[in-house]
Order: sequence, then C-alpha cells, then structure tokens
Amino acid sequence: MAQVRVFSDSTELARAVATAFLSRMQDAQASGEVPHVALTGGSIASAVHREIARLAPHYRVDWERISLWWGDERFVARSSAERNAGQARADLLDVVGATQVHEMPSSDDAASPQEAADLYSQTVRAHGSGEFDLVMLGIGPDGHVASLFPGSAQLDATDAVAVGVTDSPKPPPGRVTLTFEALNRTRATWMLVSGAEKAQAVAAALAPSGDVHDTPARGISPPEGGLTWFVDRSAAANLPAH
Ligand code: 6PG
Repeated sequence: MAQVRVFSDSTELARAVATAFLSRMQDAQASGEVPHVALTGGSIASAVHREIARLAPHYRVDWERISLWWGDERFVARSSAERNAGQARADLLDVVGATQVHEMPSSDDAASPQEAADLYSQTVRAHGSGEFDLVMLGIGPDGHVASLFPGSAQLDATDAVAVGVTDSPKPPPGRVTLTFEALNRTRATWMLVSGAEKAQAVAAALAPSGDVHDTPARGISPPEGGLTWFVDRSAAANLPAH
C-alpha cells in the first residue's frame, strides 16, 4: 500500500520532500552507505531540487558520496536547456558540489535514443547491483512517469535497463527512459505531484484496479512499504478521502 502525504501547495510539498531527502541521505551515509538516487525532470522536480540546495547547509550530507542517476532524459544536445541533467545541475548538483553524477547520454554522445539507452544500461550495470536507495518521479496529466507514456511499447519492455523513445507526446519527442524493471529495483520511490491538472491521473494511479497501459504510474511498484506519494491539495482532489 502506498503512503499518501498531502500538502497545502507546491512550496510546502517541496519543503517536505527536501527535508525527507536530506535526512535520508544523512542517515544512509552515517551507516556507511553511498546511496544511489535516481532523479527526474519537470517543474516539481526543479522546485524540489532548489529546496534541497537551500536546506543542504543544515544537514551533514557528503555530496561526493551520493551516486546520482536519472529515471529519464530528453534526447537533445548536451548544452540544451531542455536537458533534465542540465536543470538538476543548475538547481542542485553544481550548487552543492556533487561529483558522482551519471548523466544519460545526449544527442552529442549517441546517434539515437535507443543507442543512448543501450549506453546508459551498460553504465548502470557497470555500477554493481543496479539497486537504488531512492527513485524520485513526477507524473503527467496523462499518467506518464519518467518517459513511459500511455499506450507505448516501452511499458512492456523486459530484460532491459533503459529504452529509447522517439515519439513522446510531451516535447521533445526523443527521450531515454529507465524501464519499470529498473525503476522498481529500489528501496523507496517518491512520487512528486502538484497541480489540479494531475488530479485525475493521481486518482487513476492509486485506484484499486486499472491498466498500466492507460496509466503508466500504476507500474511503479517498489518493495512493500517503499512507495510514498507527495501531493499537494489540488493534485489530491480526486482521491477518495479528500
Ligand atoms: C520529463 C519527465 C517527466 C516529468 C513529468 C512531470 O522529462 O519531462 O521526467 O516524467 O517528471 O512530466 O513534470 P512536471 O512536474 O513538469 O509536471
């Protein structure tokens, strides 16, 4: 069963996620771990990253001992403002001095989204178990997560870490995304959702029944107890208890 935490707005939500993130990293490092974290793109991720950077000085987190990955990336030039990695670097990683940063290949590094996905799969496999401590994801109004979109073949990918996308309905069309198999090899997953336009997708994702091909977020299933939804009041509007 997923835990659902509701906040009054996106500012409160970002603060709660940032606090939980910094505490989790601090505790993991205190017990000798180098946590592996998968980041995502989009506006709520950006707000969360900026809030983590703002609050970081209040925590004892060694940013050289966190291994950072992405759940998905836009397949564009390395210097493009659309890159999820570029956004995360500007909002957080360069601010705090993270050094173990594993970006997905850009269109400067690979000839196609699938080639970029294959290269990233090799990188993930080269780093041991491929298990994340934490995966953070956003969700679209259509229920997509990472770059796994409704009705797409990538939803059924098996035996793959990452796959290419060439026809994403959310621009840009070219993307690289981890598969459900890879995203679900994690101890914890946090869904970050803000805004009324997401209310229907949130309700469909959390409904007792439904099809992952209609609502990809339903495919997110970390081990029991590992799934937490951080939603603001507008995004929670269609949930039964609200
Ligand atoms: C991307 C994403 C995507 C995003 C959601 C939510 O590259 O666009 O990784 O899955 O997280 O679409 O984005 P917003 O927070 O901007 O709505």
